[in-house]
Formats: sequence, C-alpha cells, structure tokens
Amino acid sequence: MSASGNDAVKALLAALGPDVVTLPDALGERRLSDWSRVPAGHPVALLRPRTTEQVSQALAICNAHRQPVAVQGGLTGLAGSATAYDGEVALSLERMRAIVEVDPVSATMTVEAGVVLQQVQEAALEAGYYFPLDLGARGSCTIGGVVGTNAGGNRVIKYGMMREQVLGIEAVLADGGIVGGLHKMLKNNTGYDLKNLLIGAEGTLGVVTRVVLRLRPRPTGVSTAWCGLGDFAAVTTLLRRAQAGLIGGVSAFEVMWPSYYDFVLGNVADLRRPLEGRHAYNVLLETDGPEAEAQAEQFQGFLATLLEEGVIEDAAIAMSERDAAEFWRIRDAPGEFMSLMPDMVAFDISFAVRDLAEAAGRLTELMASRYPGSLALVYGHLGDGNIHLLVDAPDITDAIRQDIEALVYGVVSDLGGSVSAEHGIGVKKRKVLGLTRTPDELAAMTAIKRALDPNGVLNPGRILQA
Ligand code: LAC
Ligand code: ZN
Repeated sequence: MSASGNDAVKALLAALGPDVVTLPDALGERRLSDWSRVPAGHPVALLRPRTTEQVSQALAICNAHRQPVAVQGGLTGLAGSATAYDGEVALSLERMRAIVEVDPVSATMTVEAGVVLQQVQEAALEAGYYFPLDLGARGSCTIGGVVGTNAGGNRVIKYGMMREQVLGIEAVLADGGIVGGLHKMLKNNTGYDLKNLLIGAEGTLGVVTRVVLRLRPRPTGVSTAWCGLGDFAAVTTLLRRAQAGLIGGVSAFEVMWPSYYDFVLGNVADLRRPLEGRHAYNVLLETDGPEAEAQAEQFQGFLATLLEEGVIEDAAIAMSERDAAEFWRIRDAPGEFMSLMPDMVAFDISFAVRDLAEAAGRLTELMASRYPGSLALVYGHLGDGNIHLLVDAPDITDAIRQDIEALVYGVVSDLGGSVSAEHGIGVKKRKVLGLTRTPDELAAMTAIKRALDPNGVLNPGRILQA
C-alpha cells in the first residue's frame, strides 16, 4: 500500500466508516476485474457508498489525496475500464440500486446507478412500458455501467444506444461536486451538454449516481424470423425493404456469417438448425409494435414476397416465443465461448454498412492465410454497421495476439471504420484509439479530462493515457 493510499484510506475510514470502506484483507474472493480478462491489481480499499452524498464525500477525499479511483458497476465490461488496478480505490455502486420512481405520465423511470438492467426492463413492463436497451449481460450489468459505456446491444437499430434512453443524469465530479439533475425533459438546450459528455466517458469524467430513463410504449406484438440469403446485396436489400415496409419497423437485424453459424451449431449444445440448407448469410430479423395480429400477418406476407423475388433463399418464422428464443440462443451463443475458446481474441468494430462484406471478407482471408487452421467468426448488428470478430488460433501467444490485433485494426483503419463500436476503449483499446480519432480530437478529449479531473483520479489510464 502506497503512503498516499494509506492517508487517503485513513481519511475515507474516518469520514465514511467501515460500513462503506472495506480494507483489502477483508475483500476475500471478491472479483475485482470486468469481463475483459485484463488482470486486476491490488486495490487499497473498496468503497460501497449508499448515497450520492457519500460518493461526493469519497471523491472529495480521494481528490485531495491524489488517490486514483476505479469506478465499478456490474463488472461485465469488455475493455477493462472497471477493473481495479494496483493502488486504486475500487468504488462500487452496488448498494445504490433502488428504482426511485416510475412516472407513467412523463413515461420515465428514475433509478440509482447500481440497479441491474434486467430489473429496469421488468419494472418497465410492469408499469405497462418498455425499456428497449438489451444485451447479453442484462442480468448483471448495471445502469451506471451501461451509461458509462454508452452500451448498444441488439435493439439499437430501432431504439438507439444508451445515450438515447437517458433524459437526466446526476453525477459526482472528481472534486466531489454534484452535477446534473433528475430532469425528465426530452428537450433541454441549456448550454454544454454534460449529460452526453458523461455518457460513454467510462467513468473518467464523473461517477454517475442516478439516472432518469426514457420509457417507450410496450410492444405487444413481436415477430421473429430466421432468413438465409445468398449474397450481401440481398442482405442489405432485406434490411432496407424491412425498414421501409414493416408496420413495426425493424427492432433487430442480426447477421451471422457461415463461419460463425457452422461453429456455433457444431459446438454449442442443444441448438436446432432453423433452416435445412447452408447460406452465405443468416439473418435474425425481428419487428415489434402495438398491432400483434396485423403485424404477424404482414410479416408473413413480406417474407413470402421476398422469397418469391429471390431476395431470400429460405426463411423460418418463429411460431412461438420458444421458437424465437431458440433463434436468439444461436445469436447469443458467444456468451458460452469463454469456456470453448479461452484464448480467443475478440473485436467490436464498425464500418459503413456497404463496406461490411468487404471488411469481413478481408479479415477472414487475412486470418486464414497468416494463421492456417485458425477460426475467424464474424457476426453482429449489421444494421448498425457493427460486427464482432472472434479469432482463435492454435497456441496463441502474446506476440500472435498482438499480430492479430494489428492485422484487424489495419483493415479497420483502411476502410475508415471504428476500433470500438459499442464496448468502449478502456485500457484494452487505448493504443488504437488514434486510428479512429484525429490528433485534434484526442487533444480536445485530453483538455476536457484535465479540466474536469485535474488530478487524474477518476479511472486514470482508461480511454486516454494517464
Ligand atoms: C454481442 C456482444 C459481445 O453482441 O456485444 O454479442
Ligand atoms: Zn454486440
């Protein structure tokens, strides 16, 4: 424990007491890292405040002692932002998980940052509303975390990323100042937008403590289909025709390349093939809206027309919620890859939709030629321009891992894509941030960080070099 760590921890204990401050020897087996597989270090204390005021007190003390803080939510992030490193104080929002209010007239829900996403989704449904943001970690990830990372997931194509679900934010700055508020207005043009600065800042500019979420009408009809298509032009035609023609619009458009489809069906237990044949592209298409029967009928007619026209080679419509869940299990299978491919290198990259076929083709060929026998699985949120690539090669070493990253980010840079579509930068992608952001942008980001956190205590080294 460093000397400054000691002083800071003493001051934290004196101000907040042992209920809030846990010392390292009492941490037991507690997990201190997120899902990025970047190893955690040895934090000097764990803070678990119960109120915004306690967060404010804690940060004021840490700031005065130049004590770095790791901000933690559900620890499901994939970039290493929430992992606690050596000498840091881990600040977990896990005790602040109340649903403060549902306002059915304004269609809002006010929550504390530590509430789990799935609880928000369930509370919204109970109130006759819908909270659309959804991702595989729904049962563990917290609202503070999905705000901090501006999470995306499977329904972005219709409802937008987390940024679009937030009306108001209360946050604590590095010096303990409390900013923002629990506003419920969709319109709020009052100068610099601190709310949007904090969203996606990965805890580097402030600690989000409470959030006003925007609720949507509850869709009573959801139709889901699995489509097999022969080429990329057909995939984008299906996307645009579905967006223009389906009454409920497109609430998910998930695409799986054959590498992914074959691997998942071959290796993950208890999955059923939705279609008999093999197709160049597999699409999970979903539409949702308020007119269950009319939508279902129209959905069927729409798919029949595209089959007749030859846009779709084959399709299966989910006849029950169970069928739909089975389709989604094929798409969500990467959750189980951790054990199947412990050394895999995972990417979350984005491109203009029209460049996706070329990007996927180039990436797959590069991996096959450089690493014969490697696996390169491509799938993702095609309507958002976002694909995930999972690479596994025999006997992966750190050097091979770095080489694979260089190859992939080379293609991203060549095609003007983004090194992170929805998982954030954290510590994992800091080195490649400059491929997507210009030097002037990086300078502006550094200036903002210095202005709001001059002592560099909040999640130092995440996004930007400490
Ligand atoms: C997914 C996560 C990894 O889409 O972003 O599966
Ligand atoms: Zn994703």
